[in-house]
Amino acid sequence: MSRSAHPAGPRHGDVLPEGHYSAPPADLNALDPKVWSRTVTRTADGKVTVGGVAVTRLAEEFGTPAYFLDEQDFRARCQAWRDAFGPDADVFYAGKAFLSRAVVRWLHEEGLNLDVCSGGELTTALDAGMPAERIAFHGNNKNAEEIERAVAAGVGRVVLDSFQEIVRVAHIADRLGKRQRVQIRVTVGVEAHTHEFIATAHEDQKFGLALAGGQAAEAVRRALKLDGLELIGIHSHIGSQIFDTAGFEVAARRVVSLLAEIRDEHGVELPEIDLGGGLGIAYTSDDDPREPHEIATALRAIVTRECAAANLRTPRISVEPGRAIVGPTAFTLYEVGTIKPLDGLRTYVSVDGGMSDNIRTALYDAEYSVALVSRSSDAEPMLVRVVGKHCESGDIVVRDAFLPADLAPGDLIAVPATGAYCRSMASNYNHALRPPVVAVNEGAGRVIVRRETEEDLLRLDVG
Ligand code: LLP
Repeated sequence: MSRSAHPAGPRHGDVLPEGHYSAPPADLNALDPKVWSRTVTRTADGKVTVGGVAVTRLAEEFGTPAYFLDEQDFRARCQAWRDAFGPDADVFYAGKAFLSRAVVRWLHEEGLNLDVCSGGELTTALDAGMPAERIAFHGNNKNAEEIERAVAAGVGRVVLDSFQEIVRVAHIADRLGKRQRVQIRVTVGVEAHTHEFIATAHEDQKFGLALAGGQAAEAVRRALKLDGLELIGIHSHIGSQIFDTAGFEVAARRVVSLLAEIRDEHGVELPEIDLGGGLGIAYTSDDDPREPHEIATALRAIVTRECAAANLRTPRISVEPGRAIVGPTAFTLYEVGTIKPLDGLRTYVSVDGGMSDNIRTALYDAEYSVALVSRSSDAEPMLVRVVGKHCESGDIVVRDAFLPADLAPGDLIAVPATGAYCRSMASNYNHALRPPVVAVNEGAGRVIVRRETEEDLLRLDVG
């Protein structure tokens, strides 16, 4: 073993301070395929490569911090979802996880549809050539201008989220001489086991209309009366980063029972149900996510069974995975700046990014993995906290992890599974420049979202 450069941190066999970690991994150089995208590998010289390109070359060419997105992995995940659900169902990628024009083109090529939740996402989707009829428009407070643009463009569906919106969309469609296809978003009363801020099917929250108490049934009544609307189905999204299929199954059962009530009251069998997104991914080796085919099989079985029992035609199912497609496809590459051992506690490793490129640790207490990727090391494991360069002590990227004790300033470290909700929730806090997204494929990197510049900041500052 090489001599430790940072003697203060705990070692193998020591009693470790409070934290989220288990024991140090047996081999710090190993890259768990659960958390790294499929073309990531460590070559004989110790360097990690993605899409056949060494991270050291990527850092030279594109700088750090930067998100590197494995295009082959992204396309393979799209295909896995499409194949799992088959031709009788629709997969809508949730653009909020990460959206850019290149991503829209890949989705189009791979036969996926797209869920957008703002005017900005809608513009990106249309600009990159996604056919409007393959777009679903979401949101709990879409404004009139956004609705008008979506209806005028001919989006495949608007997902209605309130009584006001039912009327608003109907009026706008009438005015444009259109009949807009819509779904009604319902809250099914499932407690998804995830962080409170990303759970969305319990009743006390801003999304949807509750099944319990009859709000959802009332929304259906109102929507069916309006000429500007064609009610095609019911939508449910129970939350995000969920590992257990049971919540989706309960949601599916409750949505089907609403379809039966609608048939009984109105004599109409709605042809579609959307069961939302939310399938979890592995951020650390301790996570065990379900595969798309497992969720597809479970959902198909429950919907078919419940519909048969209610004597309903089986509706067309759609789903809206965001994180499960893009999350595992990217890692964030950082350069180590300063290293500060705190006696008996842990070693603070500061990188050139932070909460501005990954707010999830601060916001949800999210857990991440980290690895030294510019070289391999035989040094002992050192307990670290990877922190950013922001003026805030909560600026933590990886709360607890192990890196080799010979870690030094200038080393490159990478945090995997940052493809979803990292660039899309990035900020300019402390006037940080949001990092680029570089797609890597077949031996080359290509910038798909460029790095922000200080000129970009000044351009917005018109005072
Ligand atoms: N459909 C709807 C209606 C949604 O609201 C969402 C996510 C999705 C689909 C996609 O969910 P996914 O498959 O990505 O879990 N910022 C949080 C996640 C917020 C999710 C919001 N809605 C995070 O970083 O964990």
